Amino acid sequence: MDNQKLPMLPPSVELETTAVLKQLAKAHRALAELKGYADTIPNKHILINAVMIKEAKDSSTIENIVTTHDDLFRAISDASGVTPAAKEVAGYRTALWHGYEHVKAREMLTTNMIIEIQSMIEKNHAGIRKLPGTVLRNDRTGETIYTPPEGESEIRDLLGNLEKYINQENDDIDPLIRLAVIHYQFESIHPFYDGNGRTGRIINVLYLVLKGLLDSPILYLSRYINLNRPAYYRLLQEIRTLENWEAWILYILTGIEETAVYTLKLVKSIHAEVEIMTEEIKKRLPKIYSKELIDLLFYEFYTRIEYIEKGLSVTRKTAANYLSTLEAEGFLRSEKIGRDRIYQNKRLFDLVKNDD
Ligand SMILES: Nc1ncnc2c1ncn2[C@@H]1O[C@H](COP(=O)(O)OP(=O)(O)OP(=O)(O)O)[C@@H](O)[C@H]1O
Ligand SMILES: [Mg+2]
Repeated sequence: MDNQKLPMLPPSVELETTAVLKQLAKAHRALAELKGYADTIPNKHILINAVMIKEAKDSSTIENIVTTHDDLFRAISDASGVTPAAKEVAGYRTALWHGYEHVKAREMLTTNMIIEIQSMIEKNHAGIRKLPGTVLRNDRTGETIYTPPEGESEIRDLLGNLEKYINQENDDIDPLIRLAVIHYQFESIHPFYDGNGRTGRIINVLYLVLKGLLDSPILYLSRYINLNRPAYYRLLQEIRTLENWEAWILYILTGIEETAVYTLKLVKSIHAEVEIMTEEIKKRLPKIYSKELIDLLFYEFYTRIEYIEKGLSVTRKTAANYLSTLEAEGFLRSEKIGRDRIYQNKRLFDLVKNDD
């Protein structure tokens, strides 16, 4: 069906239609509100971690690496002896952090960084496709929908063009519209044998950070895509078949708006939980309360005796004592994993889990 070459960027049609501009304003407003809130709260790393762990699961669900929150939690607390699915999710999260730190430090998002991110997701170094034969199929019918460009040099040329488009400054096209263009183009280049979707979804959030629309990596479209998946595939394809850029851009802008609203609610409720637990521990367990302790309890959804021992500079015995007291008071739930006992922040975990 398609024997046309994938065109280089920028697209040659008018992208800023009236409908797009209208939705663009809404998306920016919601995003700015999220950014504003995230900028002011003191314990940002807690929120970033919590939202990121949830994203790692949502994004991996698209790929059908079905992972429960319980598995996920185990994967993050101990990579040995867990299910392969959970390890995949943990790898996604590592790739995400890595990309974020890179973008922050270098203020660029390069092809090489994208290759690194994909290799961390897939845990191999296959890199850019060299062999022909990769096609995108309709899952149900098996019919080939699209054959992405073949040959390493053509793929590299297209990635080079995309890299320029990503890092270009002061262009007249709004960055959120560009995000939609970048996602389509990246998925259409489909530079890797596998992991193109997950890599592309990481690029989305890194691009928001790169353009200063967010400081923290907390807006992820995976959940929205999961909830609106048929349209996602259809609209990607309609750019190719009908040059229907408008519907695609509207889809992404609506996703940004909805996700920003949703994420703001989520981070507010996480923040509230931190405050509530702080007050309760202060009141009921004044001898063990400290701000550092709260930080440690929320840092990863779970903690261990060693973390408390190191983080608070107390003896192992004291640390163990703290944790069993917190468990007895209902703040934590412990579980033996391998030789280790890990203590889960029950409320934080339930809050993120029940959100599905
Ligand atoms: N018609 C299409 N045109 C361009 N890209 C498409 C089309 N259909 C699907 N895609 C992209 O291909 C991705 C899947 O590619 P791949 O299997 O390499 O990625 P993944 O990360 O392993 O999977 P997933 O995205 O399902 O988690 C989809 O997420 C989507 O972004
Ligand atoms: Mg795949």
